[in-house]
Amino acid sequence: MGSKRGDDVEQLRATAIAVARQVGDLVARMRSAGLGQVQTKTSATDVVTAADTAAERLARRLLAQWRPGEPVLGEEEQWGTGPPVGGLYWVVDPIDGTVNYLYGMPWYSVSVAVQRDGQSLAAAVGQPTDGRLWSAARGCGADCNGVALRVSEATQLELSLIATGFSYRSERRARQAAMVAGMLPRIRDLRRGGSAALDLCSVASGWLDGFAEHGLHQWDWAAGALIASEAGAAVRLPSSGSDLVLAAAPGIIDALTELVLQCGADAV
Ligand code: IPD
Ligand code: CA
Repeated sequence: MGSKRGDDVEQLRATAIAVARQVGDLVARMRSAGLGQVQTKTSATDVVTAADTAAERLARRLLAQWRPGEPVLGEEEQWGTGPPVGGLYWVVDPIDGTVNYLYGMPWYSVSVAVQRDGQSLAAAVGQPTDGRLWSAARGCGADCNGVALRVSEATQLELSLIATGFSYRSERRARQAAMVAGMLPRIRDLRRGGSAALDLCSVASGWLDGFAEHGLHQWDWAAGALIASEAGAAVRLPSSGSDLVLAAAPGIIDALTELVLQCGADAV
């Protein structure tokens, strides 16, 4: 199944990959050269490095060149020159896992998706330190470095490995802590990797059975959610009244959804 309106999703995927690669090279190079200036955003723990800013600028420059006229939503400059009025637009997280990047931990990524009407059509997530590049095109499957992906075959929540993540705001974290407390006794174990995009790619790769986090931004999940879905995951995205992102093996999605909702994941 292709996308509507005749979009060439494979061509869009190639563009997403090229952007993720070039931006990934830049952020890895900048990290090797030292961190440079670090500022804070929504709270003292929410940082933005010189590389976040430079990486988003590069992504915008490449997209302006390759996809002129298509708006870009990025974590650092938001809608930049303006939001879309119909048509395709790009959603970029220049560094997802900024706190890991800050500490020199290699588990961070560059996330690039192209959407129309809120639906991702093609996506790429690059992990520059290890050279991994996940990508997907709607209806065409997902792969990592050319190897096709398939989610795990988990069917029992109590034997499932689930990831989650936390906001930078303490009020939100209190609710996230309640979700963790409710989930932990009911699953195999919990992971907090520090990059939602990589968590979703890990579900696609079968490295995790599921992922659940509430309070994410569109740039955190736009690429990873398509990659997970194209690898066979059941995915639930934010909608009115809920800001929960869930992706899991089909065999556990109902049990996981019920569990996180019981834990207040939906109480926006
Ligand atoms: C964060 C990561 C993290 C998630 C946070 C996000 P950032 O994005 O994706 O895993 O738990 O909610 O804000 O700040 O590293 O781009
Ligand atoms: Ca992010």
